[in-house]
Amino acid sequence: MGRAGFVAGNWKMHGSLARNQELLEAVVSGTRSLQNVSCAVCVPYPYIVQAQSVLEGSHVAWGGQNVSQYHHGAYTGEVSADMLTDLGCRYVIVGHSERRILFGEENRVVAEKFRAAQECSITPILCVGETLAQRESGEAEQVIATQLDAVIDLAGIETLRHSVIAYEPVWAIGTGKTATPQQAQDVHEFIRSRIAVHNSRIAGDIQILYGGSVKADNARELFAMPDIDGGLIGGASLVAEEFISICLAAQN
Ligand code: PGA
Repeated sequence: MGRAGFVAGNWKMHGSLARNQELLEAVVSGTRSLQNVSCAVCVPYPYIVQAQSVLEGSHVAWGGQNVSQYHHGAYTGEVSADMLTDLGCRYVIVGHSERRILFGEENRVVAEKFRAAQECSITPILCVGETLAQRESGEAEQVIATQLDAVIDLAGIETLRHSVIAYEPVWAIGTGKTATPQQAQDVHEFIRSRIAVHNSRIAGDIQILYGGSVKADNARELFAMPDIDGGLIGGASLVAEEFISICLAAQN
């Protein structure tokens, strides 16, 4: 497998100018010697400029946590992909389960956001994943397939060439309950096979991250699985040493 590792931090709605400065500087210096793994932090909108000023020229890319499906216009409170491009964002998270569940983002809107990011040459990190109830009733694969298909149908399979997928079981996010490496591997393999139906080359190349209570002490065993290429990290991305250790664990 020639896929490089990738670790992205999702700060969610956390941070302050002073705290971010310390965290960003520590992450830059701690990831200086990384090889064959990329890393990024997805920060709240107001702090993107700060991330850009600290991270420019470093090994660490930056991005947003959400994006509008529209490019410009009378959409009070929204931020477009064009604006993220303007601020040097390389990535944006789309379809995080907190957006889907708490803010009612449906598959169609997530697919439109994915497409908007692509149109501005930003790499979308597309989150998919099932709730506990869906897993327990045996619907996990169907839910994930529907989430993926919505994007493939709207944006086209070719757009997956320049995207990243994050499998994040909702029951593992912020709960301290990580999927076992085998549970995650099974879903990652399923995602790859679903993409392979359209294009086996893209399926083999696409980075699929695992997210949900990844910490320094469980990252290595998760990333050792053949179809897990790195992680999308929430809580642990707010602690420099934790985040750096997770990035190191993704080196192959
Ligand atoms: P967590 O969050 O690492 O805090 O579980 C992951 C995410 O929501 O992306």
